[in-house]
Amino acid sequence: MAHFPTSDGRAAWRANVLTLFTDMFPGPLGVSLVGQALDAGVWSLTTHQIRDFGLGRHRQVDDTPAGGGAGMVLRADVLGAAVDAARAANPDSPLIYLSPRGRPFDQAMAKTLSAGPGVVLLAGRFEGVDERVIAGRGLMEVSIGDYVLSGGELAAMVLIDACVRLLPGVLGAPESLAHESFEGGLLEYPQYTRPREWEGSGIPEVLLSGDHQAIAAWRRAEAQRITAQRRPDLTRKPEHD
Ligand code: ADE
Repeated sequence: MAHFPTSDGRAAWRANVLTLFTDMFPGPLGVSLVGQALDAGVWSLTTHQIRDFGLGRHRQVDDTPAGGGAGMVLRADVLGAAVDAARAANPDSPLIYLSPRGRPFDQAMAKTLSAGPGVVLLAGRFEGVDERVIAGRGLMEVSIGDYVLSGGELAAMVLIDACVRLLPGVLGAPESLAHESFEGGLLEYPQYTRPREWEGSGIPEVLLSGDHQAIAAWRRAEAQRITAQRRPDLTRKPEHD
């Protein structure tokens, strides 16, 4: 397995994705800062085609659900073999199954995962995967929100993007991380730039004052106001890290 050391000697953060749609990758992960970091070897992306482990001439990967019902379920034997192959090359990375049934993904989880060696992600399709694989391989189920996507690939990309941008050297100005949403349990304060007057609307006077203490106090108050208004649940949530 390719292992790319970064320019400062750190091992690259490794994203592995098990999917039936390898063509979807890198997709949006190949552009902008995250894509540049991929090209620079700060992180690596390996896709594993589940169908390579499929059965018979048609490389069958799914079957009808036991007990009846709609849709198809990814077979335990096929998926077990695919997960084992991806895992063997990445024994230290957490094994995650993207699923609307999972634990909600958040910034704290992104931080924890980005501090580790990488992730092995299973992107499912169809009605789901055989439960025995989840239990037998100790997959952690993670959801990116309370809605149902047609597959786990977009969710895997969301998780990877949120982790990679936290890796050292990926963002141009790391100090911007300290002020973004969810830092300190708050949403971000409003930002303004030129022009000073736009469609009859100005910039809050304090931001033009040059008084750094007053600006910091205004931003803190705005972050608190917006968080209380839009996400009262965050104000009740204990702070992570
Ligand atoms: N797969 C389908 N929907 C999903 C969601 N909301 N989160 C993670 N994986 C998914």
